[in-house]
Amino acid sequence: MSDTERCKSMMVEFDGILLDYSRQIANLDTLNKLYNLAEAAHLKEKINRMFNGERINSTENRPVLHIALRAPRDSVINSDGKNVVPDVWQVLDKIRDFSERVRSGAWVGDTGKVLKDVIAIGIGGSFLGPLFVHTSLQTDPEAIEFARGRQLRFLANVDPIDVARNIAGLNPETTLVVVVSKTFTTAETMLNARTLREWISAALGPQAVAKHMVAVSTNLTLVEKFGIDPNNAFAFWDWVGGRYSVCSAVGVLPLSLQYGFSVVEKFLKGASSIDQHFYSAPFEKNLPVLLGLLSVWNVSFLGYPARAILPYSQALEKFAPHIQQVSMESNGKGVSIDGVPLPYETGEIDFGEPGTNGQHSFYQLIHQGRVIPCDFIGTVKSQQPVYLKDALAYGKTAEQLLKENVPHPLIPHKTFSGNRPSLSLLLPSLNAYNIGQLLAIYEHRIAVEGFVWGINSFDQWGVELGKSLATQVRKQLHASRKKGEPVEGFNFSTTTMLKRYLEESAD
Ligand code: F6P
Repeated sequence: MSDTERCKSMMVEFDGILLDYSRQIANLDTLNKLYNLAEAAHLKEKINRMFNGERINSTENRPVLHIALRAPRDSVINSDGKNVVPDVWQVLDKIRDFSERVRSGAWVGDTGKVLKDVIAIGIGGSFLGPLFVHTSLQTDPEAIEFARGRQLRFLANVDPIDVARNIAGLNPETTLVVVVSKTFTTAETMLNARTLREWISAALGPQAVAKHMVAVSTNLTLVEKFGIDPNNAFAFWDWVGGRYSVCSAVGVLPLSLQYGFSVVEKFLKGASSIDQHFYSAPFEKNLPVLLGLLSVWNVSFLGYPARAILPYSQALEKFAPHIQQVSMESNGKGVSIDGVPLPYETGEIDFGEPGTNGQHSFYQLIHQGRVIPCDFIGTVKSQQPVYLKDALAYGKTAEQLLKENVPHPLIPHKTFSGNRPSLSLLLPSLNAYNIGQLLAIYEHRIAVEGFVWGINSFDQWGVELGKSLATQVRKQLHASRKKGEPVEGFNFSTTTMLKRYLEESAD
């Protein structure tokens, strides 16, 4: 088969997005084998079970229905026999109404001033997705226009520097704080929420909190306990995983405050278009399925454990950090969904940076060091990394270098082995709709990988362990500092570190 024929047979287009996977170390025979693997793994049935609202997140006994968050108003998606779409739209309508009132000045702060700045407090899935979309929208002309005169900032880290940076230059009188937490118990988020509640109260009095703080959560009881009026809380549901929550109020509220609901609705429509495609397209034309199967091929068969996400648009600078969480928290698992230790490794080590910055940082290793499958993401209206995928695929031989009169000692250094896999996704532009498409393609790709590996991509017990260990350490530090209690109950290493920290920080 000629290269042209190969390329033609390894390109797929849907709704304006072109996928070229001809530079993978795979041929059509490989793809056929991967389709057989998908069949053996019951991929289609698993996708159907997800869309049918079955409790596929079995370790948490929950359905996985982030697709319902962007479903058209008249669609029906049942969970436990109940259509969840009306609930979704009830919250979306509430967000539309609230964000329009804030933006128009119908809802003002405690001193009567328009709330033109928003700080969204949240971490992990309650932060990375909304930040990615916010950053990406900064090249959408409509979004730029609607955001004029407004600021949206994100406060995630427990490091006080992050608070200082967020409030720098902002006036509490004109600031609205959105506390975003699925559980409303996450230590970092609650500490930052208390700090900003104090910031508002100290400047304007405690009564101002009602006008200047709202919440997004599944735990409305704790929202009320914190002192936020439940009428100013925006709900979502336990069938939305944290890292899959950007299309819930988690992302929609802060983004609507900044850009207006109509822009965010386009983002939801883009994601929904991919959901329908993922659900109904045959595997050989299905973007998330093809991408997911190729990732399984690279990780499990070729043994390449990493994946570089390389968007050629500065506006996508927060895409790799978001996908890092979606992918590594979803698929970094050691047992099958039935709890049996896996005889193979799952998940990728995802990292990335926009080109061309990455080219001047880590691409050397990709060209001549380790083999790392690359995702090049371009937009028709921006710079294109076309030559790079060819450089990785074809490399450069010693013969070519000799013809170019390269001195002999330099030939090994200038030789490129080639045969390094990459794929390219070309988007028409980077507007709200396209950003929604891109998000959904990756969310579903990662689900496909998990379905084929036979794991539960929707729990995160590893992170939960980290959270409970951190709680024990925090309790100990508090008890030692406030009541002088000795450090106990930890192993020698941790005890030594805690004691040293308490001694040094006491001065
Ligand atoms: O990072 C771990 C995690 O559990 C994520 O899954 C979640 O998105 C994040 O913490 C924040 O949790 P919450 O939204 O409950 O504050």
